[in-house]
Formats: sequence, C-alpha cells, structure tokens
Amino acid sequence: MPRRRVGRRRRRLKVLVVGGYGRMGRWFASYLRRKGHRVWITGRKGYKLARASRQLRVPKVGFGEAAPWVDTAIISVPPQRIGQVVKQYDSLLDDDCLVVDISSIKRPVEKCFKALRRPVLVMHPFWGGSADSIKGRNLAVTYPRRLEPRARTLVEDLEKGGAVVTRCTPEEHDKAITFTLALPHLLGAVYGFSLSLSELPPRRLGRLGGRSFQTMLGLARAVAEESPEVYAAIQMAGPRYAKILREVSRRIDEIASGISGGRADRFMETLITSSRALGMLGGS
Ligand SMILES: NC(=O)c1ccc[n+]([C@@H]2O[C@H](COP(=O)([O-])OP(=O)(O)OC[C@H]3O[C@@H](n4cnc5c(N)ncnc54)[C@H](OP(=O)(O)O)[C@@H]3O)[C@@H](O)[C@H]2O)c1
Repeated sequence: MPRRRVGRRRRRLKVLVVGGYGRMGRWFASYLRRKGHRVWITGRKGYKLARASRQLRVPKVGFGEAAPWVDTAIISVPPQRIGQVVKQYDSLLDDDCLVVDISSIKRPVEKCFKALRRPVLVMHPFWGGSADSIKGRNLAVTYPRRLEPRARTLVEDLEKGGAVVTRCTPEEHDKAITFTLALPHLLGAVYGFSLSLSELPPRRLGRLGGRSFQTMLGLARAVAEESPEVYAAIQMAGPRYAKILREVSRRIDEIASGISGGRADRFMETLITSSRALGMLGGS
C-alpha cells in the first residue's frame, strides 16, 4: 500500500529583531511577519522604535530589556557593533535562543558567533532593505555546517521564496565581496562624486547621456541610499582590498597621464583586459 505523505508542520518562530528600525531590520521584521512568524523589534532610540513598530505593525521591546520568550534573535546592526550587541543580548535571551547574524562581512563576525554557547546561524543576504522580491537573489550561509531546525526553517523559507543559497567559508566570502560589493560601492560613490565636477545642471546632464550614464547613475544612487557605517565596514573587509585599490589607482593615473599627453593607449589596453575578464566570467 502506498505510504501517505505527511506534510511537515510549519514551524512558527518567535523572533526578536535587534536593530529592528534599520534598513535590514525592517526588511526582516516585515518579511517574517508576512511569513506568519511572531515578531518583536528593538533598537536604541525610543522614537524611531515606536514609529517603526507602528509602521511595521509589530510590537516593540525596550532596548536592553530581557526577552526570554523569543526563540530566535536576528542581530541587524552594523558589523563593527555586532560584538558588543551580541555580548549584551547573550544574557538577555533564553540559553536555547537561536542567534542569527546577517552581516555583510564574515571573518570577524563568525568568530564572535562561534564563541557563543547557544545555537547560531551566520548568513549574508545579498539584498538590501528595499528589495521587494528575493527571487534570484543570493544568500550565503557560512556557519554552522549542520543547521538546527529553526535555522533550517529560516534558510529554507528564503530558498522557497527564490533566494539562491550558497555555502562558503567566511574567508571565501570576504575575498569575494572585495569584487562583488566593495569595488562596486566605491565606483558608485566615486561616480556620484565625479558628477559634482561636471559643471552642467543635472537635468541637462540627464538629457545628454545614454544607457551607460543611466546604469552608473543607478549604481551611484543605490550606494548613496545605504548606511555609510555599514558600507565603510565592507570597504575594510577584504584581505587584499587595499592592494587591489592601489593597483586600480595606478592604472587610472597611467590613463590620466596618457590622456594629458594626447594618448589613449592605456585606456584601450584596459578595455581589452576588461573584455577578456568578462569573457572568463561568461559575459559577452
Ligand atoms: N543594507 C544592505 O544592503 C545589507 C544587506 C545585507 C546585510 N546587511 C547587514 O545588515 C546589518 C544592518 O545593516 P543596515 O543596512 O540595515 O544598516 P542600518 O540601516 O544603519 O541599520 C543598523 C541599525 O543598527 C542600529 N545600531 C547601530 N549601532 C548600534 C548599537 N551599538 N547598538 C544597538 N543598535 C545599533 C541602528 O540604530 P541607531 O544607530 O539609531 O541605534 C540601526 O537601526 C549590517 O550588519 C549589514 O552588514 C545590510
């Protein structure tokens, strides 16, 4: 006789989001509430917390108050603050409460999570607080290898929503974000800055540009909307980033010297190298 398949009962979590009125804190609070979990938010500033609690329609808990009833806590504060916040919340949560890291850098943060004597989940969602959909968005999970049931619920729900889950070490993660986050952010910020040198009114500039202008403007705007503190931490994370930046800046200097001397050969060489590198990545 065929065995009847018994569906696994959906686990309803009780989640506290620390940093709950920040960009990602809001995203997780609203996402988890829509998924049917019970959610509370907390944060240092009472007026911001009260406003976010009303807007997100989730209850608030005073910052630094014990929350022994939650079974999961998501730490959504800038990477530089995680050590101090995790230490503070370690004594305010039940011993079995799962603590989740979502930060954009992993090597220093994972060390701090591994030192905790409680269940943990260390992951990095590669989307921002304004993401409407997570379909096709990347999610890196670095720790632990074997996820406990609440961590599995969180990761599997994101996967079901379309997120693409990749397991990696914190070292590989931080090496990759030099190229996938830090450099794009830097180039976006530098492009935004360079527009201030144009001496043309922004509307006129907008009428005299094409697809490359729109693409770069989109990047510059997206970067400008994010938290300077979080983005500064990303700039500091890559092990070889400073060396790579010096190489890039040397190349830009060489292009500038060539152009001052009426030559664009170094620029052309750069374009050819770029085209080869993109070919390696499967681009056209
Ligand atoms: N934005 C992204 O695209 C993105 C994507 C993936 C992951 N992340 C990660 O998500 C985390 C949050 O980033 P975010 O972009 O949401 O930053 P955010 O908008 O600046 O939010 C950070 C929150 O942390 C609070 N905070 C700062 N220092 C604190 C402290 N010492 N104690 C308690 N709360 C503190 C801030 O509130 P007050 O300063 O008002 O207290 C704010 O509510 C970071 O670890 C980041 O790496 C961000």
